[in-house]
Amino acid sequence: MTPEITQVVGWEALDSRGRPTVACDVVLADGTRATAKAPSGASTGRHEARELRDGEERYAGRGVRRAVGHVNAVLGPAVVGLDAADADGLDRRLRALDGTPDLGRLGANGVLAVTLACAVAGARSAGRPLFAALQAQAEPSLPLPMVNIVSGGAHAARAVDVQDVLFVPLGAASFAQALEWTDAVRRAAAARLERLGHSAALVADEGGLAAALGSNRATIELVAGAIEDAGLAPGTDGAIAVDVAATELLTGSGTYRLASERRELDAEELVAEIEGWCRELPIVSVEDPVGEDDADGWRAAARRLGHLQLLGDDLFATNAERLGRGVQEGWANAILVKPNQNGTLSGAIAVLERARKAGMAAVVSARSGETEDAWLADLAVATGAGQIKVGSTMRGERTAKWNRLLHIESVLAPDLPFAGGRALAPLGTAVAAERTA
Ligand code: PGA
Ligand code: ZN
Repeated sequence: MTPEITQVVGWEALDSRGRPTVACDVVLADGTRATAKAPSGASTGRHEARELRDGEERYAGRGVRRAVGHVNAVLGPAVVGLDAADADGLDRRLRALDGTPDLGRLGANGVLAVTLACAVAGARSAGRPLFAALQAQAEPSLPLPMVNIVSGGAHAARAVDVQDVLFVPLGAASFAQALEWTDAVRRAAAARLERLGHSAALVADEGGLAAALGSNRATIELVAGAIEDAGLAPGTDGAIAVDVAATELLTGSGTYRLASERRELDAEELVAEIEGWCRELPIVSVEDPVGEDDADGWRAAARRLGHLQLLGDDLFATNAERLGRGVQEGWANAILVKPNQNGTLSGAIAVLERARKAGMAAVVSARSGETEDAWLADLAVATGAGQIKVGSTMRGERTAKWNRLLHIESVLAPDLPFAGGRALAPLGTAVAAERTA
C-alpha cells in the first residue's frame, strides 16, 4: 500500500486562457508531495461533468473559489487516511460526497484536481512514472498524435466554422517522427497562409493557425496542400482529421449555421457536405459532425462517414452510460476521452476500457483551456488508448504533453510500441487499404 494521504490543499490557479481553474496539492505520510490542475473546455457539451464557477464579478464570473473551498472543507478531509494509489476507492468516496451524477454540487473541477493529485503523489511515492503506476488492463503504448494545424470555431473567434483541422502522421514510425512531420506540415501551412495574405503570427487558443479563409473547405484544402508541400504522401504518410464541433453550430431551430459561408444546413445536408470534403481530401477522422443530441444526424453520419474514423466528443462526453447507449445504437466507431468531462481519473479509465472492449478506437484529449500539467500523456500511454489530441505543437501547455511523450519514448520506456496509423478506426482499415493499394 502507498503511504496514506495526510493533507489536501486546494487553490485557485490560472489556465492557458488566463481563466481560473482548480489546483490541488496532496501530501502523503512519507512526505511525498504532488500538485495537479484541472483543464477546462470552451466548446463544452451538455452531458459533461459540471464545473463550479463563482459567478461573481472577479474574472468575469469564472472564479473557482467555491470549488476550492469544497476541496479544502469537504473533499480533502474525506480522503485523508486513504491510499493515494487506489483511484477506484478514492473516486467512489468523492462521488458519494457530491451525490449528483454530474458532480455539480461540489464541482467536477475540484473533484478532478483531487483525484489527479492523489494519483501523481501515489506514483511518485512508489518511485514509478505515472504511466507505469496507473492501473489499466490494456497493453501500454505511445499514442499516434492528431495535431491542430488550423483552428476555427470557439477557439479562433469563429474565423471558420469547423473547430479543428488536424494533421494525422499515420505513416510515422515513431512518436518523435510523428512530431517532426507535423512541424513540417505546420510550417508549410503557415507559408501558404502568408502567400494568401494572412498572418501566420496570430495563434488560436490551442496554438493553431487562425485565418478567415472564407470557407471550411478552403481551410481543409490548405492543410492538404501543406502535407504535399512538406514532401509527405497524402493518405499514407499523413492525413487530415476534422473536428466540426457541430454542437456549437446549432441554431435554435435544430439546423446548423456555417457562418463563414453564410449557409444554414439541416443535419442530412451537413453530413452530405462533410462527405463531399472526405471524398476529395485525405480525411481519415471526423469528430462531432452533428450535435450532441441529434440522434438522426448521427445515424446519417454513421451511414455516410462510418468507413472513416467517426469520433464522438460532445456525443459521449466521456460518460459510461452514453458510451453504452452509443455502442448499442452504433453512433460512432471512436470516442474522444477528456478526463474532466467525466470528473474522475478512474471514471475516465473505465470509459477507455469499455470502449476498447467494444472494439472502438479512442483518442485521449486535452481541453482548449489547459495547464502545464502532463498527466494526460501518461494516461494515454498507460491505457494504450492509441491516439492523443492536445492542440498544436506550440504553446507551453501543449508542449508539456508532447515533451512528456518524447521523454517516455526516448528515455523512460524506449521499448514501448508506437501505436501508429493502426490505432485509427475502423480498426486501422483506412491505413491498411491505402498501404496495399
Ligand atoms: P474544448 O475543445 O476543450 O473547447 O471542448 C476541444 C475539442 O472539442 O475537442
Ligand atoms: Zn471536439
